[in-house]
Amino acid sequence: MQSMHQDIDHILVSEEQLQAKVAELGARISADYEGRDLLLVSILKGAVVFMADLMRAVTIPCGIDFMVVSSYGGANTSSTGLVKIIKDLDQDLSGKDVLIVEDILDTGITLSHLMPMLQMRRPRSLRLCTILSKPSRRKADIEPDYCGFEVPDEFVVGYGLDYDEKYRNLPYVGVLKPEVYSK
Ligand code: IMP
Ligand code: MG
Repeated sequence: MQSMHQDIDHILVSEEQLQAKVAELGARISADYEGRDLLLVSILKGAVVFMADLMRAVTIPCGIDFMVVSSYGGANTSSTGLVKIIKDLDQDLSGKDVLIVEDILDTGITLSHLMPMLQMRRPRSLRLCTILSKPSRRKADIEPDYCGFEVPDEFVVGYGLDYDEKYRNLPYVGVLKPEVYSK
């Protein structure tokens, strides 16, 4: 039987490490937002796995909402960095304590454009939680308020992150074998 696992060169963050970190982040967020009107906002599709785990690790009442964004300009978008909202949030952000739940902060360009757009909707607070971060790739002046793991400058897949829309369902974060890209 064909398996995704055989395309993985090495694992960067194991399933056990991810689950332990999510539990830790959930506990921190639950303490920090106690008594607040917390809304977890996730950007599809990469953050869907982290969102599903994190929301169950949060023990205080909270809402969830999703948005879809795309960058203008096709393949070269992360350098131009303008974001377009394809599917907006269902909920009004005014007065809410909004926590953006993201898969990975890479250059940071997407969120450096999106966060001011959300800030204009007057949430009570707006912060960022990412499960992964590649600090060496940062181009925009943005850092996560909560971060799971820092990873090196390698293209990673799994735990929601894709290559060509595949590998999102791997339970760990790994690096693909070089030959997968030349298929
Ligand atoms: P940036 O921070 O604006 O550069 O873009 C971040 C987005 O690019 C993430 O939300 C991912 O969807 C995608 N991305 C960045 N690095 C990787 C990676 O290593 N693997 C898969 N997707 C990535
Ligand atoms: Mg993403």
